[in-house]
Amino acid sequence: MHKFARFKLRRPFQLVATFLFGILSTAGLAMLLGAALPAEAQDGQDLYLPVINKELPPAAVSDYVLLGWNDLGMHCYNRDFQDLGVLPPYNTLWAQVIKRGNPPVIMTDTVTVTYRFPDNTYSVGKSNFWTYAKQLFGVDLAPDMGLAGFGLSGDMEAKADHFVAEGIPLTEFSDSNPTVRDPYQLAELVAMDAGGKVLAQNTVVAPVSTEMRCDNCHNDGGVEGIRTGRVETNILTLHDEENADEYPAGHTGRLMDRRPVLCAECHSSNALNAPGVAGLPSLSNAMHEKHAGKVPQTTDGCYNCHPGPTTKCLRDVMSSQHGMTCVDCHGNMEKVAENRNPWLNEPRCDSCHDEPQYAQDQPLYRMSTGHGGVRCEGCHDSTHAIATSTEARDAIKFINLQGKPGTLSSCLVCHTTMPDGNGPHTAQ
Ligand code: HEC
Ligand code: HEC
Ligand code: HEC
Ligand code: HEC
Ligand code: HEC
Ligand code: HEC
Ligand code: HEC
Repeated sequence: MHKFARFKLRRPFQLVATFLFGILSTAGLAMLLGAALPAEAQDGQDLYLPVINKELPPAAVSDYVLLGWNDLGMHCYNRDFQDLGVLPPYNTLWAQVIKRGNPPVIMTDTVTVTYRFPDNTYSVGKSNFWTYAKQLFGVDLAPDMGLAGFGLSGDMEAKADHFVAEGIPLTEFSDSNPTVRDPYQLAELVAMDAGGKVLAQNTVVAPVSTEMRCDNCHNDGGVEGIRTGRVETNILTLHDEENADEYPAGHTGRLMDRRPVLCAECHSSNALNAPGVAGLPSLSNAMHEKHAGKVPQTTDGCYNCHPGPTTKCLRDVMSSQHGMTCVDCHGNMEKVAENRNPWLNEPRCDSCHDEPQYAQDQPLYRMSTGHGGVRCEGCHDSTHAIATSTEARDAIKFINLQGKPGTLSSCLVCHTTMPDGNGPHTAQ
């Protein structure tokens, strides 16, 4: 099938002016917080297809383009750290700055990029992570500071072709409504020149959720009749009953007696760069192996632990338009449990999309680069959120750039004149 078979004429699209550079304006912010997209962007199926758009981009474009995204489609952390920790608050944002031109140029040297969350400026009080961070991770963390040295706002770090803010300790609770879960938090990224002049800005989702539904089963009396009053202590009690006599040297003593416990102390986790104890299964292997047969082999089955029936972290075009499930890409629980290198050995886009023009240049999609040095995620967004996402906020940045949701496809977002040659993925 030829890709341009999908080319369609779009009806003229009226960009809502506040959306473009009105991010800081009250109207723009209200719109973002309400996650209400302009009606024009929502009706009309054609707008949701990735179409090569040869029309001019919205008028008010600057000389620079700011692409931004979260490296993963979702980050999950524990709601309560007093008993155990699986994952800490830890979102990682990436950005690329492109000087529009003919050809466009990817910038890092003379540009800085800052990030902040206008409606999420503190985490202490929304999570007890900082009370237990020393016991769990052995580090003294300043309030609202993350494990990799980034806080809730600041400068991103410049790398060879992109900017990154690693391990932002973000919670799913907005300042304006700190008791209500809101997993699609909005970051505002701003690119500036050396003199502090704003070159470009954009609004990007940092997806974050505590929705691990261990309580679906490990509630009081739920598994092996254990009732301790809390889901976490039920789990630790069960783990002690099953394994306490096998705890390795240097890690002995019932988990219940030395809370809070980091699972990755003994079970390796590449998500935390934690080596674990040799001879014990990785946390991913242990969890998927032990719970195989306990959950249905469907997306809803995975949502017992991955976020989740409410969060719906899987919101991409393949699940919404082509009916794909977690199991279609990852295999079932047994298959996931066999992963020898969890988090680093994952399904590849190009194992299904095996035409050469879709080849990844790295084993991981999130590390891969495509057209002209632009990161795959810059145009398609994160795994599990591949545009067009069903979460309206994911589309804000694409609307800001090209006046419509969906894959970044408008050549003139980056090129100042229509290039003669072919664009992304077309054979040269
Ligand atoms: C669908 C039900 C279900 C859900 C959801 C669930 N578990 Fe379990 N889990 C079980 C059952 C049943 C067992 C006991 C298995 C057995 O003994 O064969 C178990 C066992 C365990 C064990 C003990 C393993 C061992 O043998 O030492 C741990 C630890 C555990 N679960 C942690 C969790 C965590 C953490 C979550 C959430 C991220 C979770 N479980 C979610 C049903 C569930
Ligand atoms: C002190 C070390 C230690 C810690 C900390 C620890 N575990 Fe374990 N875990 C073990 C040992 C030892 C086993 C038994 C391994 C085996 O049988 O191969 C085990 C087994 C398991 C199993 C069953 C694996 C299987 O296939 O039967 C699961 C699931 C599990 N642990 C989950 C967790 C979770 C979740 C946490 C954090 C709440 C945790 N563990 C913390 C040492 C630990
Ligand atoms: C009983 C809870 C539980 C269920 C059910 C579950 N997971 Fe997980 N999963 C976890 C935990 C906990 C981790 C984090 C492990 C770590 O930190 O290394 C994880 C990590 C992963 C990872 C990343 C690590 C790796 O192995 O590459 C993948 C992929 C994954 N799960 C896929 C799935 C899929 C697909 C399903 C449904 C078929 C599923 N999971 C169901 C608990 C679960
Ligand atoms: C398990 C196989 C599989 C994997 C893995 C996979 N895809 Fe797909 N993808 C499909 C199928 C099937 C379709 C729908 C039919 C088609 O276009 O071939 C699709 C469609 C798409 C579309 C077009 C959607 C539309 O409706 O226009 C995009 C874009 C896409 N995939 C990107 C990706 C990216 C990026 C990755 C890696 C993060 C990826 N895919 C991984 C199977 C897969
Ligand atoms: C269309 C295919 C597809 C579907 C559907 C899918 N995944 Fe993935 N998943 C991937 C790919 C591809 C990666 C590896 C991304 C990379 O290389 O950066 C991945 C990575 C992951 C990871 C590792 C962390 C990360 O984001 O890279 C976890 C955990 C995970 N998936 C869980 C799930 C769960 C749970 C579901 C269902 C709710 C699911 N996936 C549905 C393709 C898919
Ligand atoms: C400059 C923006 C851009 C970059 C960078 C980019 N893509 Fe795309 N991609 C597109 C557009 C636009 C489409 C839709 C038109 C098409 O299929 O050519 C697309 C389509 C796709 C599809 C869908 C195929 C189908 O069946 O419809 C896959 C898979 C894909 N890209 C993977 C990747 C991967 C992997 C990377 C990184 C190695 C990447 N893309 C980098 C813009 C981009
Ligand atoms: C997200 C920004 C972006 C988008 C969107 C984009 N490009 Fe590019 N393009 C680049 C960059 C960056 C280069 C690398 C310039 C260089 O050679 O250093 C490039 C290079 C090219 C080149 C080779 C160099 C040149 O300028 O002749 C062609 C041809 C091209 N793009 C065509 C397209 C077409 C056609 C589209 C739309 C279908 C498109 N591009 C969309 C960023 C983009």
